[in-house]
Amino acid sequence: MNLADYIRDISDFPKQGVVFKDITPLLMDHAAMQETTRQLFDLVGNHQVDKVVGMESRGFFFATLLASKLGAGFIPVRKPNKLPFNTISEPYSLEYGFDTLEMHSDAIQPGDRVLIHDDVLATGGTAEAVCKLVEKLGGIILQVNFLMELTFLNGREKLEGYEVKSLLKYK
Ligand code: PRP
Ligand code: MG
Repeated sequence: MNLADYIRDISDFPKQGVVFKDITPLLMDHAAMQETTRQLFDLVGNHQVDKVVGMESRGFFFATLLASKLGAGFIPVRKPNKLPFNTISEPYSLEYGFDTLEMHSDAIQPGDRVLIHDDVLATGGTAEAVCKLVEKLGGIILQVNFLMELTFLNGREKLEGYEVKSLLKYK
Protein backbone atom coordinates (compact mmCIF):
# COMPACT_ATOMS: atom_id res chain seq x y z
CA MET A 1 0.00 0.00 0.00
CA ASN A 2 1.33 3.44 -0.94
CA LEU A 3 0.24 5.86 1.77
CA ALA A 4 0.87 8.86 -0.49
CA ASP A 5 -2.09 7.69 -2.60
CA TYR A 6 -4.35 8.55 0.34
CA ILE A 7 -3.11 12.12 0.74
CA ARG A 8 -4.61 14.65 -1.63
CA ASP A 9 -3.35 18.07 -2.66
CA ILE A 10 -5.77 20.95 -2.24
CA SER A 11 -4.65 24.05 -4.10
CA ASP A 12 -5.05 27.51 -2.58
CA PHE A 13 -6.02 26.27 0.88
CA PRO A 14 -6.07 27.79 3.45
CA LYS A 15 -4.97 30.69 1.28
CA GLN A 16 -3.90 31.56 -2.24
CA GLY A 17 -0.68 29.89 -3.36
CA VAL A 18 -0.58 27.20 -0.66
CA VAL A 19 -0.98 23.52 -1.62
CA PHE A 20 -2.54 21.82 1.40
CA LYS A 21 -1.81 18.12 2.08
CA ASP A 22 -5.18 16.68 3.09
CA ILE A 23 -4.94 13.47 5.16
CA THR A 24 -8.69 12.93 5.58
CA PRO A 25 -8.79 10.27 2.79
CA LEU A 26 -6.14 8.36 4.72
CA LEU A 27 -8.08 8.67 7.98
CA MET A 28 -11.37 7.53 6.47
CA ASP A 29 -9.89 4.30 5.09
CA HIS A 30 -9.43 1.78 7.88
CA ALA A 31 -6.69 -0.23 6.15
CA ALA A 32 -4.72 2.93 5.28
CA MET A 33 -5.05 4.23 8.84
CA GLN A 34 -3.87 0.89 10.25
CA GLU A 35 -0.95 0.74 7.83
CA THR A 36 0.09 4.31 8.71
CA THR A 37 0.06 3.48 12.40
CA ARG A 38 2.08 0.33 11.77
CA GLN A 39 4.69 2.18 9.70
CA LEU A 40 5.01 4.96 12.31
CA PHE A 41 5.40 2.25 14.96
CA ASP A 42 8.22 0.72 12.90
CA LEU A 43 9.98 4.13 12.74
CA VAL A 44 10.21 4.12 16.53
CA GLY A 45 12.42 1.03 16.43
CA ASN A 46 13.67 -0.26 19.76
CA HIS A 47 13.00 2.86 21.83
CA GLN A 48 11.12 2.22 25.07
CA VAL A 49 8.53 5.00 25.16
CA ASP A 50 6.71 6.27 28.28
CA LYS A 51 4.76 9.14 26.68
CA VAL A 52 3.76 10.16 23.18
CA VAL A 53 3.25 13.91 22.78
CA GLY A 54 1.00 15.04 19.93
CA MET A 55 0.13 18.56 18.89
CA GLU A 56 -3.27 20.03 18.17
CA SER A 57 -4.96 19.31 15.99
CA ARG A 58 -3.76 17.10 13.16
CA GLY A 59 -1.02 15.58 15.29
CA PHE A 60 -3.61 14.10 17.64
CA PHE A 61 -4.85 11.39 15.26
CA PHE A 62 -1.74 9.27 14.86
CA ALA A 63 -0.04 10.28 18.11
CA THR A 64 -2.91 8.67 19.99
CA LEU A 65 -2.98 5.53 17.84
CA LEU A 66 0.79 5.27 18.14
CA ALA A 67 0.69 5.66 21.92
CA SER A 68 -1.85 2.86 22.13
CA LYS A 69 0.30 0.57 19.99
CA LEU A 70 3.47 1.44 21.96
CA GLY A 71 1.83 0.89 25.33
CA ALA A 72 2.58 4.53 26.20
CA GLY A 73 0.50 7.42 27.53
CA PHE A 74 -0.66 10.26 25.30
CA ILE A 75 -0.02 13.94 26.06
CA PRO A 76 -1.83 16.71 24.15
CA VAL A 77 -0.10 19.98 23.29
CA ARG A 78 -2.65 22.67 22.55
CA LYS A 79 -3.03 26.22 21.38
CA PRO A 80 -3.53 28.85 24.12
CA ASN A 81 -6.30 28.63 26.73
CA LYS A 82 -7.60 25.21 25.66
CA LEU A 83 -6.13 23.08 28.44
CA PRO A 84 -8.00 23.21 31.76
CA PHE A 85 -5.24 22.52 34.32
CA ASN A 86 -1.99 24.38 35.08
CA THR A 87 0.09 24.81 31.94
CA ILE A 88 3.57 25.65 30.75
CA SER A 89 3.86 27.52 27.47
CA GLU A 90 6.29 28.18 24.67
CA PRO A 91 6.10 30.75 21.86
CA TYR A 92 6.78 29.70 18.27
CA SER A 93 7.04 31.57 15.01
CA LEU A 94 4.40 31.58 12.33
CA GLU A 95 4.72 32.93 8.83
CA TYR A 96 3.69 36.31 10.25
CA GLY A 97 4.28 36.78 13.97
CA PHE A 98 4.12 34.38 16.90
CA ASP A 99 1.72 32.03 18.59
CA THR A 100 2.02 29.91 21.73
CA LEU A 101 1.72 26.21 22.50
CA GLU A 102 0.77 24.86 25.92
CA MET A 103 1.09 21.58 27.80
CA HIS A 104 -0.16 20.58 31.24
CA SER A 105 2.52 21.10 33.87
CA ASP A 106 2.05 17.56 35.23
CA ALA A 107 2.09 15.87 31.80
CA ILE A 108 5.67 14.64 31.99
CA GLN A 109 7.77 13.45 34.91
CA PRO A 110 11.54 14.07 34.94
CA GLY A 111 13.22 11.18 33.11
CA ASP A 112 10.15 10.19 31.11
CA ARG A 113 11.13 8.83 27.69
CA VAL A 114 9.16 10.83 25.15
CA LEU A 115 8.23 10.40 21.51
CA ILE A 116 6.91 13.52 19.76
CA HIS A 117 4.61 13.07 16.77
CA ASP A 118 2.98 15.50 14.34
CA ASP A 119 1.42 15.08 10.90
CA VAL A 120 3.68 17.52 9.04
CA LEU A 121 7.19 18.88 9.44
CA ALA A 122 7.19 22.20 7.58
CA THR A 123 9.39 25.03 8.96
CA GLY A 124 9.94 23.08 12.19
CA GLY A 125 8.74 25.90 14.47
CA THR A 126 5.93 23.84 15.97
CA ALA A 127 8.07 20.79 16.69
CA GLU A 128 10.90 22.92 18.10
CA ALA A 129 8.49 24.54 20.58
CA VAL A 130 7.16 21.15 21.63
CA CYS A 131 10.71 19.87 22.24
CA LYS A 132 11.25 22.85 24.55
CA LEU A 133 8.03 22.13 26.46
CA VAL A 134 9.02 18.48 26.98
CA GLU A 135 12.52 19.38 28.14
CA LYS A 136 11.24 22.10 30.51
CA LEU A 137 9.55 19.28 32.43
CA GLY A 138 12.64 17.04 32.32
CA GLY A 139 11.48 14.65 29.60
CA ILE A 140 14.02 12.82 27.45
CA ILE A 141 13.19 13.12 23.75
CA LEU A 142 13.85 9.82 21.98
CA GLN A 143 12.56 10.77 18.55
CA VAL A 144 10.44 13.33 16.74
CA ASN A 145 8.45 11.69 13.97
CA PHE A 146 6.11 12.88 11.27
CA LEU A 147 3.79 11.41 8.72
CA MET A 148 5.01 13.96 6.13
CA GLU A 149 8.05 16.15 5.73
CA LEU A 150 8.18 19.15 3.38
CA THR A 151 11.93 18.90 2.83
CA PHE A 152 12.20 22.20 0.91
CA LEU A 153 11.32 24.13 4.08
CA ASN A 154 14.35 22.71 5.95
CA GLY A 155 12.48 22.10 9.19
CA ARG A 156 15.13 19.58 10.23
CA GLU A 157 17.57 22.45 10.80
CA LYS A 158 15.47 23.59 13.77
CA LEU A 159 15.55 20.06 15.22
CA GLU A 160 19.29 19.48 15.11
CA GLY A 161 20.45 17.12 17.82
CA TYR A 162 17.19 15.17 17.84
CA GLU A 163 16.40 11.95 16.01
CA VAL A 164 13.97 13.09 13.29
CA LYS A 165 12.04 10.62 11.13
CA SER A 166 9.24 10.92 8.60
CA LEU A 167 7.29 8.44 6.49
CA LEU A 168 6.72 10.57 3.39
CA LYS A 169 9.02 13.25 2.01
CA TYR A 170 7.83 15.94 -0.39
CA LYS A 171 10.41 17.94 -2.35
C1 PRP B 1 0.35 22.49 10.78
C2 PRP B 1 0.78 21.04 10.81
C3 PRP B 1 1.92 21.04 11.80
C4 PRP B 1 2.54 22.43 11.60
C5 PRP B 1 3.81 22.34 10.83
O1 PRP B 1 -0.46 22.72 11.91
O2 PRP B 1 -0.28 20.20 11.26
O3 PRP B 1 1.47 20.93 13.12
O4 PRP B 1 1.57 23.21 10.87
O5 PRP B 1 4.32 23.63 10.56
P1 PRP B 1 5.75 24.11 11.03
O6 PRP B 1 6.72 22.95 10.90
O7 PRP B 1 6.06 25.21 10.04
O8 PRP B 1 5.65 24.62 12.43
P2 PRP B 1 -1.36 24.01 12.13
O9 PRP B 1 -0.63 24.93 13.07
O10 PRP B 1 -1.75 24.55 10.79
O11 PRP B 1 -2.64 23.51 12.91
P3 PRP B 1 -3.59 22.23 12.77
O12 PRP B 1 -2.76 21.00 13.00
O13 PRP B 1 -4.54 22.46 13.90
O14 PRP B 1 -4.23 22.25 11.41
MG1 MG C 1 -0.67 20.94 13.25
